[in-house]
Amino acid sequence: MASPSRTDRLAAWLEERVPIAPVRDNLSHKTVPTHRYTVCYYLGSMTLFFFMVQVVTGILLMLYYRPSAGEAFESVEFLMTTVPFGWLIRSIHSWSANLMVFFAFLHLATVYWMKAYRPPRELTWVTGCVLLFLAMGFGFSGYLLPWNQLAFFATKVGTDIAGAVPIVGETLLRFLRGGDQVTGGTLSRFYGWHVAILPAITVMLLGLHLIMVQIQGMSVPPGQKEEAKRRRPMRFFPEFALRDAFGWTLALGVLATLAALFPWELGEKADPFAPAYADIKPEWYFMFMFQTLKLVPGGEVAGVEYEAIPILLFGLAGLLLVLVPFLDRRVQRDGRSPIFTAAGLVAIVFIVTMTAWGYHSPVPLYVVLLTIVLMAVLSWGTARGEKEVGS
Ligand code: HEM
Repeated sequence: MASPSRTDRLAAWLEERVPIAPVRDNLSHKTVPTHRYTVCYYLGSMTLFFFMVQVVTGILLMLYYRPSAGEAFESVEFLMTTVPFGWLIRSIHSWSANLMVFFAFLHLATVYWMKAYRPPRELTWVTGCVLLFLAMGFGFSGYLLPWNQLAFFATKVGTDIAGAVPIVGETLLRFLRGGDQVTGGTLSRFYGWHVAILPAITVMLLGLHLIMVQIQGMSVPPGQKEEAKRRRPMRFFPEFALRDAFGWTLALGVLATLAALFPWELGEKADPFAPAYADIKPEWYFMFMFQTLKLVPGGEVAGVEYEAIPILLFGLAGLLLVLVPFLDRRVQRDGRSPIFTAAGLVAIVFIVTMTAWGYHSPVPLYVVLLTIVLMAVLSWGTARGEKEVGS
């Protein structure tokens, strides 16, 4: 008998110390159901891709960035003008941040639509919701870091909104700002959140989210059970993984194109004594809340500012979103829950209308329509490509 090769011996040595065979076996047996909406299963991993891009480009940015009111703007300016490819890394980081939030929203919408939060996936949903909130927290904290006019005033307004929450508002505002005003202290604090606290929590939750997905496998939407039975499931490795890799390659191309053709702007350095910026805009994913609050008149009732009412309602909506798997009881009985589907549609119409209103532009509506058409075309194309059992 031929003696084992050097590679086999090294593999056996490693296996004895780090046994990865069970993981490999698990992956080689894992399958993904195929049906009309299989394409939705790629959206979580797309979000994951953009998160990984954020980690890599974020670390590179940290090598040059200085988190103080006196140096932050200048360090980003230096990065954009002098450091080789610095402008590209910063642009990729900014574009990828937006795409990550967009795909997290889309992933949530399709998971909701497919009712994948049904038992036993309640905790996968809950951790997913918190991941989305964390992604928004990354956006909010990162926005201030270049210390430019737009970011400065948007953060002032954003933290003022937190200050309007009844009872805890003042404490919350001081906690966020690290004082009464937005200052260099706020910048250092936001930097801490952005590069240490949020990433640590995100990585832990993401780990949990992915472990649960691995243990439970992918769910089949209630209306697709028959089709999934007729069709041969796809092996995760290599078929599904290769399709994921294809999507990631495409995403990298799109990201590089966007970053090269539309480099992220820097604007002017923040001046705390300048009159408030006329056209304050938050990140697009906060726009629907910002616009709703703009419509509320000044004044108060029973010591509570009018503004606090929509803020509390948004908080309640966030809580209800997290609790969806526990509230939607009917879906557990017969896989249908038209009230929840309708509530989801109303939420999307509200968010898109308010965002379009906030920007005085129909573009948000076009983006949603285009996404729906693209998803429909991809579902149609991929469903046709898969074989039926026995064929
Ligand atoms: C940083 C954000 C997130 C990342 C990186 C992520 C990643 C993933 C990945 C890779 C999968 C497996 C493939 C797939 O279904 O697409 C998955 C599944 C899942 N995710 Fe997420 N996710 C994120 C946010 C969310 C959000 C916001 C929700 C909803 C609240 C959510 C709920 C779920 C559920 C329920 C599944 C299981 C789907 C099924 O079995 O059909 N995730 N996630």
